[in-house]
Amino acid sequence: MVMKRVYNFSAGPSVLPEEVLKIAADEMLCYQDSGMSVMEMSHRSKAYEEIIGAAAANLRTLLNVPDNYKILFMQGGATAQFDAVPLNLMKNKKADFVDSGIWAAKAIKLAKKYGQTNVLASSKDTAYDRIPELDPSKFDPEADYFHITMNNTVAGTRFYKLPDTKGVPIVVDMSSYILSEVFDVNDFGLIYAGAQKNMGPAGVAVVIIREDLMGECMPVTPELYNYKINYESGSMLNTPPTYTIYILKLVTDWVARMGGVAQIQKINEKKAAMLYDYLDQSNLFKGRVAKDSRSMMNVTFVMGNEELEKRFVAEAKAAGLVNLGGHRIMGGLRASIYNAMPVEGVAALVDFMKKFEKENK
Ligand SMILES: Cc1ncc(COP(=O)(O)O)c(C=O)c1O
Repeated sequence: MVMKRVYNFSAGPSVLPEEVLKIAADEMLCYQDSGMSVMEMSHRSKAYEEIIGAAAANLRTLLNVPDNYKILFMQGGATAQFDAVPLNLMKNKKADFVDSGIWAAKAIKLAKKYGQTNVLASSKDTAYDRIPELDPSKFDPEADYFHITMNNTVAGTRFYKLPDTKGVPIVVDMSSYILSEVFDVNDFGLIYAGAQKNMGPAGVAVVIIREDLMGECMPVTPELYNYKINYESGSMLNTPPTYTIYILKLVTDWVARMGGVAQIQKINEKKAAMLYDYLDQSNLFKGRVAKDSRSMMNVTFVMGNEELEKRFVAEAKAAGLVNLGGHRIMGGLRASIYNAMPVEGVAALVDFMKKFEKENK
């Protein structure tokens, strides 16, 4: 079979490290001495317990997760967390939010069912082209938590500075941020992230929760969404997405081999700078968002001409650079350059953009 891999700029599910895919392929028919694929294995087997244990241990090491934080693997993606977080944490029935993108807005919409959602700031009016300014006087000291989306996958923005919430725990959606750069887990009460960007295939969400925040969920909380019960069951309340977690283990092994998150961050900074530097001097392509809010993972840009944008996406695809169209709601163009996108892929994209610009002056 002739096989040529493309440079895949998809926002998620997204590119995985080739090395990881090769290991998975080698182990597809027979995982170590088990005589079977990981997919065929009981989740209660010793071999699988080692895999899920290693996946959690890898995350703990790579993210420097303190002992008083628990790591859970849950199903339903990040979207399930939009319900699970208020169900578990909204004791006083109110929380503060920042509306910085369509996923943040979805988190707010779903949390409304459980209590008061105070939106402290929003950039919706400017098509989410920035992280909105936060006024500290608006913070509610009685709020159960303060929710943000660390990196806005669709808009291409991210938080650079966390506010001082005066002890109110920060809950953060890190779906398109986790493992891309170093951060301090202690800054947050709860972190959640869907796997399908920097951690593996779709099918699992990682939740990192400070232990004192577990255990006071609303009585109606479905058992599958209950953090404490999930923790006590070792993320094995029911059959977990075994293969997804196995790939997550392989991806986190790969991050460790790359030198850890600090090294990955350096590469990510280089890749993002290559694209943004070009966008800043291009006469055809323009960055979509404010410079001080630029995402390192999802670079959004426009040409101001829909026809030309469509042609760009099609011609790029023919050149092996795929999934460069913007989100169906936002339009424009987007290059998602997660950890597994090699520097060569970004270099190829910038070269292609230069050529396209020359041809379309
Ligand atoms: C920041 C963010 N939050 C939440 C989601 C929803 O994730 P899921 O499809 O895993 O539920 C996405 C999906 O792209 C996302 O980018």
